[in-house]
Amino acid sequence: MIFRGWIATLVATTISGTIAAPSLAPRNDYLQRVLDNIGPNGKQVPGASAGVIIASPSTQDPDYFFTWTRDAALTMKMLVDEFLHGNAGLRSYLQAYVKSQAILQTVSNPSGALSSGRGLGEPKFYANLTRYNGAWGRPQRDGPALRATALITYANWLLNTRTNANLKEVKEQVWPVVKNDLAYVGEFWNSTGFDLWEEVSGSSFFATAAQHRALVEGAALAKRLGQNCAACESQAPNVLCFLQTYWNGKYVVANINTGVQRSGVDANTLLGSIATFDPAATCSDTLFQPCSARALSNLKTYVDAFRTLYTINSKTPKTSPVATGRYAEDIYYNGNPWYLTTLAVAEQLYLAIQTWSTVNVIEINALSLPFWKDVYPAAKIGTISKRSNGKNFNKLLDAVLDYADGFVAVVHQYTPASGALSEQFDRNTGAPLSARDLTWSYAAYITALSARRSATSNYPQVPSWNAPKVPKIPSTCSASSAKGTYVPATGAGAPPGQGGCTVLIAFNLNATTYYGENIYLTGNVTELGNWRTSDSIPGDAGGYTSERPLWKFEVELPENEVVGYGYLRLEDDGEWLKETANRTVSVPKCGASETVTVQDAWVGPTGIPS
Ligand code: NOJ
Ligand code: NOJ
Repeated sequence: MIFRGWIATLVATTISGTIAAPSLAPRNDYLQRVLDNIGPNGKQVPGASAGVIIASPSTQDPDYFFTWTRDAALTMKMLVDEFLHGNAGLRSYLQAYVKSQAILQTVSNPSGALSSGRGLGEPKFYANLTRYNGAWGRPQRDGPALRATALITYANWLLNTRTNANLKEVKEQVWPVVKNDLAYVGEFWNSTGFDLWEEVSGSSFFATAAQHRALVEGAALAKRLGQNCAACESQAPNVLCFLQTYWNGKYVVANINTGVQRSGVDANTLLGSIATFDPAATCSDTLFQPCSARALSNLKTYVDAFRTLYTINSKTPKTSPVATGRYAEDIYYNGNPWYLTTLAVAEQLYLAIQTWSTVNVIEINALSLPFWKDVYPAAKIGTISKRSNGKNFNKLLDAVLDYADGFVAVVHQYTPASGALSEQFDRNTGAPLSARDLTWSYAAYITALSARRSATSNYPQVPSWNAPKVPKIPSTCSASSAKGTYVPATGAGAPPGQGGCTVLIAFNLNATTYYGENIYLTGNVTELGNWRTSDSIPGDAGGYTSERPLWKFEVELPENEVVGYGYLRLEDDGEWLKETANRTVSVPKCGASETVTVQDAWVGPTGIPS
């Protein structure tokens, strides 16, 4: 009865034992709601394949009936942690996930294929584990790292049990999937991609932090298995070095190496700190641990960005908990608070309390003082240790606990009586908005409340990921990369015969188009949608100028094949116009050349705006 305890905990416990103001009783049915969104038996997601975690049952406005690698991995990490906390019934979900991901890794997609690694960066797939060809912010490079972390946590449990069956499971099933993801991280951590909100191409703190963690714990797992992850060891220090460049002295800038003009204050950074929490680490600034001065200053900056932004926050006193969203400039559904981002504030602070309670000392410095003043107005710069100043130490922790609980209370306030958590709630009315029953919202609630339990009782903490005790950073950051090798995890259920070698083909098409008209690529192979217009590949007009009306496509095609292809125009009224040319491209054998570039010009009817 894991969930029953929360009710008592949230209402009654504070660190020094006084009774906090009662807030709404936490929901005890959220784990079931997560399981309801997982195939093949989840009652909200008929048609989803086994082990597939659907983002939301919503099929329109928005259509989230897909599996996102990120959402699924974060949810799986929660399930693994709950499993470690004694919920043995979850094991079958963990095993089904491993198999589903082994299959998914081999599904070639618009980001690429497994053989080059690039396909692992694809953000989302259909519920039946097939590729999604529509235009999207791809690749997204956090997915493989997060998946590795969820699976490594499970792998370490399997190893700890030391039974033959479990050793076999980790060696033959879990590790081969993890190995591909680690290879991906080692090869592509330094390449730009889309952020977790799928909008900004560049480098994202959340992704880099997750990548660093995956490489560090990947190296440790490899050792335990008598294997080695050379890429993990060679790349991790450079990733940590790079991670430092997101810090601007006051807060973590969420996206760098991007042309997008934003403040960079973004829930991205709190989520990154949470995802890389290590209960055995101290309040390390270098590692952006939840209790570090950097992460606290960042948290304050982030929360303050929403105080006057949303009408529902307008009556809240200046230093009290409020509803928070992705980032202030957000316009998705007009820009609203999200449940999972508001919960992230609470979770970061619960995790911070865990560490302070372990190290028994709180350091307040100039950087963290503004945060402390919000939660405890009398706070001053100094070192407050439990041994020599136990009363103040407890007062500070109680104040943080109270503040964190306030963010959970905000979530409760805007949760409808049914308990359902959608993606967002309205900035003016507080009413639920966007995708209903968002799996990630429920997972975020569960991880936040578990973090609270571990902060306030002897409920076990999540396992350490071997974060470096004294993090060492190379004196100059090196923009390196380790070439990966990628093999289908057949022992875990990847279909045999998949994962064959592919070659990247760049198609450059000159085609003059009017505003609102788009060009697609189609052809006689799965990668090009088998001549089905609905599965054709959207072109990129980013390089289109009046001198050169360029439409670009990059596709990985199976080696050593002659592939038929052609282009399509999609008119602004939805009509498709086909080329009249018959085109073929000879895909060379792998290794013959890195990329093949095809130069074409449109042959066929041209459209007119409707
Ligand atoms: C869908 C993405 O998932 C979301 O994050 C984004 O804000 C919208 N598209 C708008 O681009
Ligand atoms: C939009 C969010 O921005 C993105 O982070 C998420 O992966 C998808 N929705 C699916 O939930």
